[in-house]
Amino acid sequence: MVVSKTSMSLLLLFILFSSSYATSRTTHNNQQIQKTSAFEKLVRSFNLSPKDPVNLIHGNQSFDYFPGKIVEKKFSFLSNTNETENLNHHFGYYSIPRALGARMFYFFFESRDTPKDDPVVIWLTGGPGCGSELALFYENGPFHIADDLSLVWNQYGWDKASNILFVDQPIGTGFSVVNDVNDIPHNETVVSDDLYVFLQSFFEEHPEFVKNDFYITGESYAGHYIPALASRIHQENKGNPKIHINLKGIAIGNGITNPRIQYLFYTQFAEDNHLITPGERKDIDDELYEGCTEATYNCDTQGGDQNCLLARDKCEAIVNKIMSIAGDINVYDIRKKCIGEMCYDFSKLEKFLNNHEVRGIIGVANEFVSCSRVVYDAMRADLMKSFHLGIPELLEDGIKVLIYAGEFDFICNWLGNYNWVSFLQWSGQKQFKEFKGVPFLVDGTDISEGGMLYTFGPLYFLKVYGAGHMVPMDQPDVALQMLTAWMKGQL
Ligand SMILES: *[C@@H]1O[C@H](CO)[C@@H](O)[C@H](O)[C@H]1NC(C)=O
Ligand SMILES: *[C@@H]1O[C@H](CO)[C@@H](O)[C@H](O)[C@H]1NC(C)=O
Ligand SMILES: *[C@@H]1O[C@H](CO)[C@@H](O)[C@H](O)[C@H]1NC(C)=O
Repeated sequence: MVVSKTSMSLLLLFILFSSSYATSRTTHNNQQIQKTSAFEKLVRSFNLSPKDPVNLIHGNQSFDYFPGKIVEKKFSFLSNTNETENLNHHFGYYSIPRALGARMFYFFFESRDTPKDDPVVIWLTGGPGCGSELALFYENGPFHIADDLSLVWNQYGWDKASNILFVDQPIGTGFSVVNDVNDIPHNETVVSDDLYVFLQSFFEEHPEFVKNDFYITGESYAGHYIPALASRIHQENKGNPKIHINLKGIAIGNGITNPRIQYLFYTQFAEDNHLITPGERKDIDDELYEGCTEATYNCDTQGGDQNCLLARDKCEAIVNKIMSIAGDINVYDIRKKCIGEMCYDFSKLEKFLNNHEVRGIIGVANEFVSCSRVVYDAMRADLMKSFHLGIPELLEDGIKVLIYAGEFDFICNWLGNYNWVSFLQWSGQKQFKEFKGVPFLVDGTDISEGGMLYTFGPLYFLKVYGAGHMVPMDQPDVALQMLTAWMKGQL
């Protein structure tokens, strides 16, 4: 086979991204250039090429490092209009005490409705290693970026119902910086430690919001971060924390939370959506299912990087096999073709954020890195670990758990998500499983069906119609209504 220039660059990129890949290569396909695994694509899926793989900052910048402290500023992206005066928009850095020089960057947008009473929501983007700005500007933030790189109000921004925080984490992601790559987290213990101390400091800075309800939300790899952070907060709250964080619920959109179950539903989802035939499904299941199950079991029960990396290889083989049959589908939205190398074109974001004027406004010296490869690699062994185990305790204590998924996403598909949710062992499991589903009605000009809702007690699963991996991007009105109704207990 002639290797074209394009495939060569693919291969080079691929090697850069995946050192463990070689072990999962099979003899059947050594004639063709191996596709990057789907999760690796997730990192590179934003049509952006960071100049540096991670934000390494040495020496003094516009903000100094004050361990355990927040440095925050009010700012406006709309500096030349009169709308700015009443906006309570902030950005800031939190200096991580455990890691000299490391600072976690965030945006905080107070509600456009009733800041005083509206809940505080934190949004976590996945990757791992992708900046929260992807969600901010393409999904549920107050603004979208127009073609001429000006900002337009997003009428479905989640700041219409909440005071919303977009955090660049794990450190090294987005505008967050580290001094030493060794300080980048490798697991959810460190991720949730960093977020927890950040939140304590954030509420110290904003005591007026301590009494408000607090919700943790996010997407994709945040299916790992969110349960870990929620359990951390919940445990601390049971002790005697400096500040009690008023955790009321968590919402995970197209997440990866329980890989052991989720990986076993790829072939069924693919068959149901005609990406593969029933015969192909059977072949893949026969060949790969058992190896994946066994390896994820070992990763979950024994832990250890080696076990978890092996599980990753064994299970990714399922995804790779499906992809080799399905061709160039967009793994985040099977209705779409993967256009170009990266499936979506989010290049406006980097152009906008690296614009000198914008960087002047938010006072950052470092280049915006949309998705950090170094952060991604640091978390490599964390992927296959399951994070559903802390959720039953949240449910029993009345904390609302919403798992939602756009129906056309392949990579963190609704079927795998629905199944781990219904396998979850808690006191309402039977009733949840038996729940037949009711249409989720959305009122716009007409009342329409936005999705199918399954619920019992504080547990909700919503399959969102007409959406891929990024629900607030594809169905912004549905996503905002979902958030609003859920927070009010009216879902
Ligand atoms: C950083 O700034 C502080 C004062 O803010 C100064 O004392 C220190 O020497 C500076 N360090 C470097 C490396 O420039
Ligand atoms: C801002 O307000 C002032 C006075 O209300 C008005 O004269 C001016 O045209 C406004 N500027 C913009 C950019 O809207
Ligand atoms: C998480 O990473 C930290 C720092 O590398 C390490 O000390 C700790 O043992 C890890 N925890 C788990 C549960 O793997």
